[in-house]
Amino acid sequence: MQKEKILVIGASGQIGVELTLALRKIYGNSNVIASDLREENPLLHGSGPYVSMDVMNKEMLHVQVIRQGITQIYLLAAILSATGEKNPSLAWNLNMQSLLNVLDIAKEEKLTKVYWPSSIAVFGPTSPRQNCPQKTIIEPTTVYGISKYAGEFWCNYYFNKYGVDVRSLRYPGLISYKSAPGGGTTDYAVEIYLEALEEKKYECFLEEDTYLPMMYMPDAIRATIELMEAPKEKINIRTSYNLSAMSFSPKEISAEIKKHIPEFEMSYKPDYRQQIANSWPQSIDAAVAAADWGWKPEYDLGKMTEDMLENLR
Ligand code: NAD
Ligand code: SER
Repeated sequence: MQKEKILVIGASGQIGVELTLALRKIYGNSNVIASDLREENPLLHGSGPYVSMDVMNKEMLHVQVIRQGITQIYLLAAILSATGEKNPSLAWNLNMQSLLNVLDIAKEEKLTKVYWPSSIAVFGPTSPRQNCPQKTIIEPTTVYGISKYAGEFWCNYYFNKYGVDVRSLRYPGLISYKSAPGGGTTDYAVEIYLEALEEKKYECFLEEDTYLPMMYMPDAIRATIELMEAPKEKINIRTSYNLSAMSFSPKEISAEIKKHIPEFEMSYKPDYRQQIANSWPQSIDAAVAAADWGWKPEYDLGKMTEDMLENLR
């Protein structure tokens, strides 16, 4: 069996830190190279190699892939939904060009696998709001969603035309306590835990009844690794798989936190992110991921809240 050497791009971000650490456990510290435009996240210090790199610089990326003998790339660098609306051309350029750079190099260097995440943000106001299926009307209204949907079709194209084994998941909003989130509409569900512990109150930028699909980071990391380790013949979706775990509103997460911190107070001051949230489905149907490679979530809102508060404390 070929020895895998993995490059994680965007390793200092919310998902990157935890995914890098998880991959290092499986493949060995020296076989997983973390890279980012930012400095190395302190949580990665001493756990394995780190290179500072701009994924937009294709030549530099290509040189690294050859020099380090890379066989797999996990591409996590992106501008997320809320930041994307503030700078649409930056979001489009980074989200598209980074993917095209990676797919081209994967094709040229015959990499064994590529991972690139999509998002529930591909769906728009015309998609079904409840249990949104894998295949449905998809008309995104944010630049982030447009870039993810276009990206999904580039993945499909490189698989069909060049045989690049690129795999993808449409992550819901991800909640974690290790590395801070990077400018998404679902970030409130991370901030709320920190503020509940520190301030005993939180002002939410979404309305109280805004339901969104969400997932705890351990489930997201496990889903990513299970997808990447699944036999090739089980991967029938080459755009991106729907993925789901739970769905809740700000009011519901607040009530769950109150069970642990009774004095916690929630207030609401919706901003521009409300419109983004309103354009997304409230829940997602991940039946295809379950059937193809066995996806099953472990965490619901109660179990996640207990774990978040315990770890943050
Ligand atoms: P993040 O913003 O926390 O991390 C992204 C990382 O990419 C950052 O560390 C940033 O410094 C790095 N980066 C930015 N530009 C770069 C460049 N030019 N070269 C190299 N690195 C660069 O984002 P995240 O939440 O970890 O998301 C990772 C991926 O997962 C993204 O594609 C995102 O769209 C997707 N996703 C995330 C969520 C979520 O809730 N976190 C949900 C759905 C999809
Ligand atoms: N959590 C992400 C965001 O809000 C969804 O992709 O942008």
